[in-house]
Amino acid sequence: MTKRVFSGVQPTGNIHIGNYLGALKQFVQLQDDNDCIYCIVDLHAITVPKDPKILRENILDVAALYLAVGLDPEKSIIFVQSDVSGHAELAWILMCNAYTGELSRMTQFKDKSRNSESAPTGLFAYPVLMAADILLYDSDVVPVGNDQKQHIELTRDLAIRVNNKYGDDTFVVPEGRFLKEGARIMALDDPTAKMSKSAENPLSRISLLDDDAKIKKAIMKSTTDSDGLIRFDLENKPGVSNLLTIYSVFSGTPIADLEKQYEGIGYGTFKNDLVEVTSGALAPIRKRFEEIRLSGELIDTLKDGAERANEAAEIVMRRVRNKFGLGVR
Ligand code: TYM
Repeated sequence: MTKRVFSGVQPTGNIHIGNYLGALKQFVQLQDDNDCIYCIVDLHAITVPKDPKILRENILDVAALYLAVGLDPEKSIIFVQSDVSGHAELAWILMCNAYTGELSRMTQFKDKSRNSESAPTGLFAYPVLMAADILLYDSDVVPVGNDQKQHIELTRDLAIRVNNKYGDDTFVVPEGRFLKEGARIMALDDPTAKMSKSAENPLSRISLLDDDAKIKKAIMKSTTDSDGLIRFDLENKPGVSNLLTIYSVFSGTPIADLEKQYEGIGYGTFKNDLVEVTSGALAPIRKRFEEIRLSGELIDTLKDGAERANEAAEIVMRRVRNKFGLGVR
């Protein structure tokens, strides 16, 4: 039986190789054999204030990146979250069933709000909107990076809680899908922190649209250690282990083979080769991105995707409104 797959990426700049290797790569792999819906989650992006013009550009950038990495609108539904009003509606319904206690335990909220009384309520409710995104489509599988694990767990808890109150057939209880390698790519300047779009140091990440010179600089300057051995050891050699992971997923060579290949060879050569592998993988994505971004078809693709997504969402929303006794239509 084909499964319903749903996932999303926030339209902020600097989409990086962590986003690609942890999430986007899975999106592409899944689209041939499943019923996939991929969203650009713009409502999530406004939990922190955004310049409207930049937000609009970022939405189109992520849409173009989706297509550039290989998503095919003939196979997958690709759309922008705020074009389907069911996301916000279902988020409200779920919020009425989510506990403030469980939301205050979300690590992303704790990190971003830093206990401030003026943290926006949207930042607090963010994981509920994410649960709504997923449950709105009766999704079975959610391909994401490791950092979303807690949010997926909350989604499952909410689905089960509502099902217990309103009937087992209200929501499909989804599962996260995490890759063995690539689910958590670390920052290049600090391999104890995850690679992030918002870190201040641009050399902490490789963005999918970075040119060869920037890729080279970030890899050559990346933090390693001083023992000179190319060995996978997350605890004692987090920097080298992170580079090995990136090398392995971009090249398709198992980490154990890379360790053998680089036995007795220094970090310089290893890093130089990794620059080549990474540049080689990103160049075609960058080229396709430029073409797609300049073509006039992107907006039509997104409008068509929104229509199809809305149809799928309405099926679930009618069922949910009915279960809760909402509306009279
Ligand atoms: P976002 O936009 O921060 O990240 C998009 C995807 O990239 C993954 N990711 C990583 N994977 C490996 N290594 C990293 N360093 C790394 N950094 C990010 C994320 O896990 C994610 O899969 N809340 C989500 C967006 C969202 C969503 C959803 C996802 C909203 N609604 C519904 C799935 C289903 C987020 O902020 O992702």
